[in-house]
Amino acid sequence: MATLHTRFTAMLGVRHPVMQEGLGPYKTVHLAAAVSNAGGLGTVSIPGISEDPIAGAAKLRTYIEEACALTDFPFAVNVPVGADKHGHVLPFSAAYVSAVVDAVKDREIAKRLRAITTSAGPPSAARRLIENSGLIHIHKVGSTRQAIRAAQEGVDMIIASGYEAGGHTHARPVHTFVLGPSVTEAVACPVILAGGVRDGRGLAAALAFGAEAVALGTRFVASHDNPDWHPAYAARVVAAKEGEDIVFQALYGPSRALPSAGIDELALLEARAGVTEDELTQFKDLRLIAAQRDGDIEGGILPCGQIAGAINDLIHVAEFVPGIVREALAVLEQLRRLHAD
Ligand SMILES: Cc1cc2nc3c(=O)[nH]c(=O)nc-3n(C[C@H](O)[C@H](O)[C@H](O)COP(=O)(O)O)c2cc1C
Repeated sequence: MATLHTRFTAMLGVRHPVMQEGLGPYKTVHLAAAVSNAGGLGTVSIPGISEDPIAGAAKLRTYIEEACALTDFPFAVNVPVGADKHGHVLPFSAAYVSAVVDAVKDREIAKRLRAITTSAGPPSAARRLIENSGLIHIHKVGSTRQAIRAAQEGVDMIIASGYEAGGHTHARPVHTFVLGPSVTEAVACPVILAGGVRDGRGLAAALAFGAEAVALGTRFVASHDNPDWHPAYAARVVAAKEGEDIVFQALYGPSRALPSAGIDELALLEARAGVTEDELTQFKDLRLIAAQRDGDIEGGILPCGQIAGAINDLIHVAEFVPGIVREALAVLEQLRRLHAD
């Protein structure tokens, strides 16, 4: 089958320049393995943001081992490394990064766990833990300035994630169409474009911007291959209308989600005198997990990208990943035919 060779596919040893990104904070072991088995790069997400760091790190290790049992192909783990509003990187971040770095000391795990993605804050502290681990360090940014800084810190690849992306987004809104070309011009390392991608047209556009892969979140949520989550979440994404998504104050700053009573309750809790950071973190964690694990689409919190408004079906990952590449190749061929002397 025809595919696209880029530095992303070469460095990671994957067949297709397509990535499923971190979708925390519950569990995406089966989805990650399905994406990797389909020739893309799947990502195992962290188990919770209010976990005791030692217990959380142990749980993440079991997730990594589960993923290794489900795929022989490369996969990644995502760890958000954002700070709270007081500038403190949350204690779980260092514990989770260390768990990933420790895991690749096992040679069987290291054959498959090839990359760590960091997100939600500067890569500096995590970089020191990751740099000699053998892992490919991919860092997610929302601005050209952050991309330049991450490249200077030595990360191997950058995910440029536009404001329309699901989940944690950016205090200063820069959309994918603006961010993509700016970041690829600004840094020499491979760039992966995220935010609003749903099919091969998005992949072709990303390549036109100079990116070497695409990373998708919301599109992979609406899938038949995410059995770790309650199916009500995927159904809610499919039902979402264009423009229905909202941005609310999440753990590290603004986050894009579908409206829910859970987000309204969060706003009330935030306004309550004397509420502590720990109480807020606990509330957010539990309501995010309630949506993902239990399908509580009312009381839960449902991160979701703008692209949900254009998603009308559930995908089968084994068909979708090669299919998006086939479609991108067809689009590129069609565009070539527009050329006229
Ligand atoms: C349900 C959900 C959970 C997410 N959780 C995380 C996370 O834990 N860490 C992270 O870096 N990004 C997270 N994101 C953002 C995605 O990794 C990705 O950047 C984003 O979904 C890409 O935009 P798209 O949704 O338009 O494809 C989440 C997104 C969604 C939809």
